[in-house]
Amino acid sequence: MSEVERAATCPLHQISPMHPELLACPTGLNTRLRREAPVFKDSVSGIYFVSRYADVVSMAMDHKTFSSVITGPAGRGTSNLDDPELAEIMGEGYPNVDTMLTQDPPLQRRYRKFVDGAFSPKNLKALEPYIEQTANKLIDQMLEKTARGESVEFLEDFAAPLPLTVIASQIGVPLDDLHLLRKWTAAFIGNLSQQLDRDGTLQAARDIVEFQHYFVEKMDERRARPANDILSKVVNASINGEQPLNNAECLSMLSQIMVAGNETTASAFTETMLLLINNPQQCQSLYANHDEDMIHRMVEESLRISSPSANMFRRATRDVELGGVVIPENALCFARFGAANQDEATFPRPLEFDLMRDNLREQVAFGKGVHHCLGAALSRRELKVSFRVIFARLTNFRLPADQSAPNFAPNALLHGLTHMPLAFDVVQTP
Ligand code: HEM
Repeated sequence: MSEVERAATCPLHQISPMHPELLACPTGLNTRLRREAPVFKDSVSGIYFVSRYADVVSMAMDHKTFSSVITGPAGRGTSNLDDPELAEIMGEGYPNVDTMLTQDPPLQRRYRKFVDGAFSPKNLKALEPYIEQTANKLIDQMLEKTARGESVEFLEDFAAPLPLTVIASQIGVPLDDLHLLRKWTAAFIGNLSQQLDRDGTLQAARDIVEFQHYFVEKMDERRARPANDILSKVVNASINGEQPLNNAECLSMLSQIMVAGNETTASAFTETMLLLINNPQQCQSLYANHDEDMIHRMVEESLRISSPSANMFRRATRDVELGGVVIPENALCFARFGAANQDEATFPRPLEFDLMRDNLREQVAFGKGVHHCLGAALSRRELKVSFRVIFARLTNFRLPADQSAPNFAPNALLHGLTHMPLAFDVVQTP
C-alpha cells in the first residue's frame, strides 16, 4: 500500500506528513487534516502543521506570535555543520544572514524597501515587451524542436527559462550565465527540500559557495559602476544615510529573489498547462474568450490550486492557542498556504478548476501580511503575458501518448511538477 493510500485510512498519529510520497501528493492528507486535525503535530519532525484557511491567514497576519526567524536546521535546509567536510566547504563562503523572507519587522521591512521599487507597477509595465519577446522566442525554439521530430518538455523548454531569463535581466546577470543561475537555484531548492543525501548536501553547499563568489565579484563591479539593475540597488542601498548592506546581507537578498522567484513561477506555468489539459471545457472557453479578465481568472485559479509555495516555516514566540491546540513557545510550525487554498470552507469544490469563482481574490498562494510575496506582481505579469502569447500561437494541448504522466517533486516547502511533456498543434491563422 502506498503512503498516500495509508494516510487515507490509518490513525492520524501514525502519519508523517514529511514522508516524500505525502510531500509530493498532499491533497488527500490535507483534506483529512483540515477536517480532523487542523493543527497537527507531526511526531517525527515535531512540526505543527496548520492547514485551515482561517488559521493560516491568522498566523500570517500575526508576525509577532509567528516569527519567520527560524534558528536551527529548519532555517538552514539540511545543512549539518557538525559534518567537518560540509563545514569546510561552507567556511569558504559567506555566513547566512536572515533578511526579507527569514526576518521579522522592523528589520524585514528595512531590507525589503531596498528592492520594492524594482517591482513597481511602472517597472513591470515597462518589462512587458521583454516578457512577450522571451515567450515568443521560447515558442519558436519549441517549434524548431518539433520540426526536428523531437518532443517538447514544457518545464525545460518554457516554464523554467522564462522566469529565469526575466529575473536575470532584472538582477543584471548576463544571459550567457543563465545555466549557472539554474544550477544555483537547484542547489538552494535541494537544500530546502530536506530530501538530499550527504553527497547531495555537499554538492549543494559547493554550488552555493560558487554562487556567492560569482555575485560578490559582480557586486564589486556595481559598487564601482552602478547600473540600472537590482544588483546595483542592493549593493548601493542606503536610505536616510544608513550603512550600505554588507556582502552577506546582499547575498541573502539576491538568493531569495532568485530562489523564491524561479522555481515557484516555473511551477505555476507547468501546473496551469496541466490544468488546461485536464479541463478541456475550461480550456475551450479560454480560447473562445481570453480577454484580460479571463486570463486573470485563469492565473488566479491556477495559483490557488497549485500553490507552488505550499508550506512556509514559522516559529511560535510564545505559547499560543490555534485551532483548539496549544502550540508551545519556540515550536516550529508550517503555515500551509497550499492546504489553505484548498479549504472547502472558503473555496467550495476546491479541486475544481473553476474560472468563475467569485472569491478568487482570497487565494493565498503569495502569502498574506508583512511577508506577502515581493514578486507577486512580476509572476502574475509573466503568466498573463506568456499565456496570451501561448493562446495566440498554440492549441490542442495534450500529454504525449508515449511519455509518462507528470509527477510532483517531494519538497518540504515547494510544490511543483518534476517534468511536463507536452504535445500541441500550431494555431492556423486564416
Ligand atoms: C508563482 C510564483 C510565486 C509564488 C507562488 C510565491 C510565493 C510566495 C509566498 C507564499 C511568500 C510568503 C512567504 C511567507 O509568508 O513566509 C513569498 C514571499 C517572497 N517572495 Fe514570492 N512567490 C512567487 C514569485 C516570486 C518572485 C518572482 C520573486 C522575485 C522577485 C519572489 C520573491 C519573494 C520574496 C523576496 C519573498 C519574501 C518577502 C518578505 O518576506 O518580505 N517571489 N512568495
